[in-house]
Amino acid sequence: MQKVIIDCDPGIDDSLALLYALKSPEIDVIAICVVCGNVPVGIGVRNVFHCLQQCNRLDIPVYLGASQPLVVDFVSAQDTHGLDGLGESNLAKEVIDLPVQPMSAATFYATTFSQPTDIAVIALGPLTNIALALTENPKVGLHMSRFVSMGGCYKSHGNCSPVAEYNYWCDPHAARQVYQTLQCPIEMIGLDVTRKIVFTPNLLSYCQYIHPQMGNYLAKLVQFYFDFHWQQEHLLGCVINDPLAVAYFIHPELCEGFTTYVDVETESISRGQTLVDRYHFWQKADNAKVLTEVHTDQFFIQFLSVLLDAPAQTIAEDLTLWKIG
Ligand code: RIB
Ligand code: CA
Repeated sequence: MQKVIIDCDPGIDDSLALLYALKSPEIDVIAICVVCGNVPVGIGVRNVFHCLQQCNRLDIPVYLGASQPLVVDFVSAQDTHGLDGLGESNLAKEVIDLPVQPMSAATFYATTFSQPTDIAVIALGPLTNIALALTENPKVGLHMSRFVSMGGCYKSHGNCSPVAEYNYWCDPHAARQVYQTLQCPIEMIGLDVTRKIVFTPNLLSYCQYIHPQMGNYLAKLVQFYFDFHWQQEHLLGCVINDPLAVAYFIHPELCEGFTTYVDVETESISRGQTLVDRYHFWQKADNAKVLTEVHTDQFFIQFLSVLLDAPAQTIAEDLTLWKIG
């Protein structure tokens, strides 16, 4: 099993990613760090405890991270994820008020990665915690086994400006600091691949037939997200970005891309834009693997098989036979 720390801002798709990670036999989630993003960090913490409670994993330590970006004002995505971060479902209303760990997320990273480890980090939100950890200990990246970040975009248009993806737009200074100084290749799962991961009403119905309890839970979680996507772009369904970052971590063959140098714009109207120097104009050393292609069907077979506790073969046959999706 691969040891993993998940840094997240739950958030509807973060919550789906957490459920998937916690139920995946290939990975051992040893800690969860929370960052301000989709929702203020305190709401994110409550939603993490909700996900842990759902999976009977309240043994996993939770670390409180940044409540503000490094420089810019905090702007949440509660218009997309609901004020509670779970699509106004109030699913987390009964969460027992558990304590977070005494040290901050940044200090947890700085101490955990003060020596070589076999621990990977999957970042599903803004990179503020990682940047703060780098400030405390510039060597943290050298001791991570892998670093996967859901964020950015190469040729795809942005989702919170014409050119910027939310995680890197929310805290562009943190994103730039991480891309420039982490010293661990950043596996960038950006909108170029995540936009192809659309959880549709058909797939939701399929989940409800295969596993009614999980399916009905998902229905409560995603309805607000469905409505947002319909209003925003007349999309029937919702783009679930974060589960792809986890699935790619477990099954790297799900995506293809290229390694190059990536920088992040921090100022002006293009704040948060990832500048992917594919043809090395700037002659800088590669710092990232940019994923650009995804095997969408294979993703859903893996994702739904774990979420619905159903054999991958069954999911594969159903998805192919009935062209669900
Ligand atoms: O732009 C999509 C990303 O921003 C996802 O991680 C979503 O949860 C939000 O954090
Ligand atoms: Ca997220």
